Amino acid sequence: MSTTRIAGLAAPKHILGKLCLAANAVAVLAICIMPVQAAEGANEAPVSDAVFQAMGGREGLKAIVDDFLNLVVADDRIKQQFADADMPHLAMRLNEQFCELSGGPCKYGGKDMKTIHADLHITNAQFNALAEDLQLAMERHHVPAREQNKLLAKLAPMQRSIVTK
Ligand code: HEM
Repeated sequence: MSTTRIAGLAAPKHILGKLCLAANAVAVLAICIMPVQAAEGANEAPVSDAVFQAMGGREGLKAIVDDFLNLVVADDRIKQQFADADMPHLAMRLNEQFCELSGGPCKYGGKDMKTIHADLHITNAQFNALAEDLQLAMERHHVPAREQNKLLAKLAPMQRSIVTK
């Protein structure tokens, strides 16, 4: 089974390939042999809260999201996109979303990814830049590579809805 098929994406040269390159061999296997359903499991009940726990639960996740957004608004590749955004609101929604995706006891209550990003004309390069900032934030908070990649693999299929340019 190839990375392209698992990602389930029309344009394969993007984040998942980057993730697989960046990850160690064990993590690559963990992501790349994941069935399609699991890799696209944004709408499915996670089987465990291991990723949520690896991020430090609610408190750890909050610190990661705060650092992530600080990186984003300082990142010349994407900061302009966030010039008019309500950052406290965005942080709240990202906490909900990442908590749910990582198996934590939360429910995302925000808009769907296509709707919220529709007018932003986001490129693949911008999507990848944001993913790198998230990976760096998790790295700084000592989230193990395997759990980092599990969360990133949940986000990868959203690229289809978010990138419009
Ligand atoms: C996997 C990648 C991404 C995820 C999971 C994500 C997630 C979210 C979430 C949960 C919200 C808040 C939704 C709500 O308020 O109901 C949001 C808003 C927003 N996102 Fe993203 N996003 C991603 C990629 C991007 C990228 C690449 C950019 C730009 C470079 C971006 C720019 C924005 C902006 C500017 C808002 C605020 C929009 C507004 O308040 O009107 N996002 N995103």
